[in-house]
Amino acid sequence: MPSLLTPAIAAGALARSAQPTVPAGEGVTLRPWRPDDADAVMEAFQDPGIQRWHARRADSVDETRAWIEGWRAAWQAETDAHWAMAATGADRLLGRISLKSFNLVDGTAEVAYWTAPWARGGGVCTRAVLAVAGWALDEAGFHRLELQHSTGNPASCRVAAKAGFEAEGTRRGAALHTDGWHDMHLHARVSDRHR
Ligand SMILES: CC(C)(COP(=O)(O)OP(=O)(O)OC[C@H]1O[C@@H](n2cnc3c(N)ncnc32)[C@H](O)[C@@H]1OP(=O)(O)O)[C@@H](O)C(=O)NCCC(=O)NCCS
Repeated sequence: MPSLLTPAIAAGALARSAQPTVPAGEGVTLRPWRPDDADAVMEAFQDPGIQRWHARRADSVDETRAWIEGWRAAWQAETDAHWAMAATGADRLLGRISLKSFNLVDGTAEVAYWTAPWARGGGVCTRAVLAVAGWALDEAGFHRLELQHSTGNPASCRVAAKAGFEAEGTRRGAALHTDGWHDMHLHARVSDRHR
């Protein structure tokens, strides 16, 4: 049965081109992941903060290299897009930012991120979220981006607010963490073109 909807983003429209590199201002570049980032991802995942909020541990560089392969493949599959936050020029890994769970018909995706412990507190994550939102809403054709974080993670809440993601409420007991179910704050940005 044919759909009555015109998708916000036509199937194949993203994967037709290579995943873009996105400048994020003040020395930060968002670029596609490379296999040789595996060591730095392994190092970042030793951080208890990343483990706490991503409920994941990395046991070997082989494992983080396999994650990176998955992150790279997601672009071609048009399911997610994952970027390395890197220091412009120096190319030191600063963190990860992702658009996950693409719904190309509705034009929706979910923002997720971590900043490496050695890069925190200087606005890196906020600049990355602003840059990804600008690309997604103004260039790629997404309509609405959601961002969720545990109510126990005020730093993430601050990033969402600084990047212009309005708070829309609390989803009670919506995500399982290592210490049990967490209430999740929902934030979102909606394209100005569709208001
Ligand atoms: C949350 C995280 C991504 C922020 O990265 P970052 O690059 O340091 O972020 P920014 O520098 O852009 O902004 C952080 C803001 O949070 C604030 N902040 C940091 N710790 C805080 C705390 N415990 N309570 C309240 N605010 C806090 C900072 O002061 C800053 O706000 P300001 O600019 O108004 O001073 C990083 O701390 C991280 O990776 N944490 C572990 C993993 C994680 O939480 N991922 C997100 C899961 S939803």
